[in-house]
Amino acid sequence: MRRAVCPGSFDPITNGHLDIIGRAAKLYDVVHVAIMINPSKKGLFTVEERIELIREATADYGNIEVEAFHGLLVDFCKQREIPAIIRGLRAVSDFDYELQMAQMNIGLSGVETLFVPTNPTYSFLSSSLVKEVATWGGDVSHLLPPAVNAALVQRLAER
Ligand code: PNS
Repeated sequence: MRRAVCPGSFDPITNGHLDIIGRAAKLYDVVHVAIMINPSKKGLFTVEERIELIREATADYGNIEVEAFHGLLVDFCKQREIPAIIRGLRAVSDFDYELQMAQMNIGLSGVETLFVPTNPTYSFLSSSLVKEVATWGGDVSHLLPPAVNAALVQRLAER
């Protein structure tokens, strides 16, 4: 069974994430989507909500496992015998940090990182930008899976 992981914060999942996950799903038997918990960051969505939104958005792919993990990504990989981390690269500006993480991760445990060029339609897209635009009433529905957009509109209205 060929396995890979798409790790991230996914607060919330965007169409850019979905594009990378969908492409990984065509290359691997099982793609694990790992919500890496960062205790110093308070998310707009709870981890359980993020899991549910990702499950719904990826349900049609048929080979996606979604879970949250508290700890190092390399430990997540080791425990599940995952040899490859998939990360999207939106622009050159992503590269420095991504290269650092990839080199750290291979040094820690031998797990490889494969970079996938983001679809240019989403090269400007990030969860934080989507949240900022939506906070001020901007329409981001074309950038998010429908259920995520609905959840975002509702969450911001509750505030
Ligand atoms: O969606 P993001 O915030 O760009 O994802 C970053 C993420 C979660 C992949 C990265 O911060 C991570 O791997 N965190 C888990 C803790 C860890 O392994 N840190 C060392 C990375 S070299």
